[in-house]
Amino acid sequence: MTEKEQLKLTADFVRAKLEGEGTGHDWWHIYRVWQNAKTIALQEGGNGFVIELASLLHDIADHKFHDGDETVGPRVAQEFLITLSLENEIVMQVIRIMNEISFSKGMKPSSLEGRIVQDADRLDAIGAIGIARAFAYGGFKEREIYNPEIPPSQYATNEEYKKNTNPTLNHFYEKLLLLKDLMNTKTAIELAQKRHTFMENYLDQFYQEWDGKR
Ligand code: ADP
Ligand code: NI
Repeated sequence: MTEKEQLKLTADFVRAKLEGEGTGHDWWHIYRVWQNAKTIALQEGGNGFVIELASLLHDIADHKFHDGDETVGPRVAQEFLITLSLENEIVMQVIRIMNEISFSKGMKPSSLEGRIVQDADRLDAIGAIGIARAFAYGGFKEREIYNPEIPPSQYATNEEYKKNTNPTLNHFYEKLLLLKDLMNTKTAIELAQKRHTFMENYLDQFYQEWDGKR
């Protein structure tokens, strides 16, 4: 099997598994992260095959749907990758990336390939797409879009962050506007800066409209 065929089978596998998922980790999130990762890799290098496989598999079993069990994803991915008869070294690299990139762990991946996939994933949480995802998530959780009486919070623990029921606009200050400073690669920093500016302009317009000023 060629690498191209192996990537096609991986994309088909992931797509079938995530089709219709409504919380921001659907197939189209994977698709966008995959495209972001290819764009970054073009400038930054790294093993493109590993980067593509890891992008495709990075959310294969979201821990939020498995009682916080973060080992499910890597296990599902490993079982799938074995069916592609890949070199063991490639499988190990992909699994390590999956273990390293989740935001909740907040660690910097040990490989360039991992840092690129993490950047690609974080880019999808900001900019025009990030805004759409935040409000989609907030609607799913039945949250207000904004409430001037509830300021953004700082969370002492990850548990507290996951439990919060704040309006969606607060999420911009609690996470989205912080992401640009967490990018690993120069290429992603540049892309993130543009998406960040777009969000700032969006918020500015939002508040003006809120008070009927624009
Ligand atoms: P990740 O993909 O980094 O694990 P999450 O699972 O936390 O991110 O979130 C998936 C998507 O939902 C992201 O776009 C994120 O910004 C959005 N999201 C997460 N929590 C909230 C929230 N409290 N309010 C609005 N959007 C959220
Ligand atoms: Ni993701």
